[in-house]
Amino acid sequence: MLKHTIIQITDTHLFGDKNRKINGANSYSNLKKVLSHVALSEKPDLIVVTGDLSQDCTFESYQHMANVLNCTGIKYYLLPGNHDDVDVINKVFDFNWVKDKVDYSCDFNNWFISVVDTSVYPEVGGQLSDEQIKKLENNLVKNKNKSTLVFMHHHPIFVNSDWLDEMILKDADKFNKVIQANSQVKAVLFGHIHQVFEKTINSTFYGSTPACCYQVQPNTKTFTIEKLTPGYRVIELNNDGFCSKVVWVE
Ligand SMILES: [Fe+2]
Ligand SMILES: [Fe+2]
Repeated sequence: MLKHTIIQITDTHLFGDKNRKINGANSYSNLKKVLSHVALSEKPDLIVVTGDLSQDCTFESYQHMANVLNCTGIKYYLLPGNHDDVDVINKVFDFNWVKDKVDYSCDFNNWFISVVDTSVYPEVGGQLSDEQIKKLENNLVKNKNKSTLVFMHHHPIFVNSDWLDEMILKDADKFNKVIQANSQVKAVLFGHIHQVFEKTINSTFYGSTPACCYQVQPNTKTFTIEKLTPGYRVIELNNDGFCSKVVWVE
């Protein structure tokens, strides 16, 4: 049976200065560590980086991202998080992205991948416009016969931490209604919360991926650092379905 592997990396929070740390973590060296680990152990077909690519929105920070990703020789998709300036990303990657509307979808072997842009620069919380929700719905309906993965930055479900739940995707119920009406959506994968949270709603798996820089403690009222170890998610697709696991890079 043909198997295809996708790696999700998220919340790299790079700076223009490679030596600069964020909450004790060197985000640049963590990204390099993670991608070396991926290259040695997983041999993926695709890497998806789900936002908060940069912390300081500098041209140089996105250039570091491009250089490190290009060195892997692995195909990649990106999407913006609340810390990202799409205008600067466009200068490095030549994407022609439109601020707050970076939505795209594509076939991936027998699967369908939909990327939705929940960022509303420079707001910290996430939102999808009615137009974005409609576009997502139309794409899902048109591709109803294909097993689907949805990637995004903000969490569309509550994650049991008061301070993070204030930043939940605005009007998440509208988004979830579309997802739940399309049972071919096997997984909704997101970042932003810098911790692992997994929940299955009906037949759809909702899961976050640990950050590439530092993690925060789950189930807290306020922001509390957990550890500096980076992590990533491996998603294996086959004809029947998918399985996924989180890998920590010590
Ligand atoms: Fe983040
Ligand atoms: Fe974020």
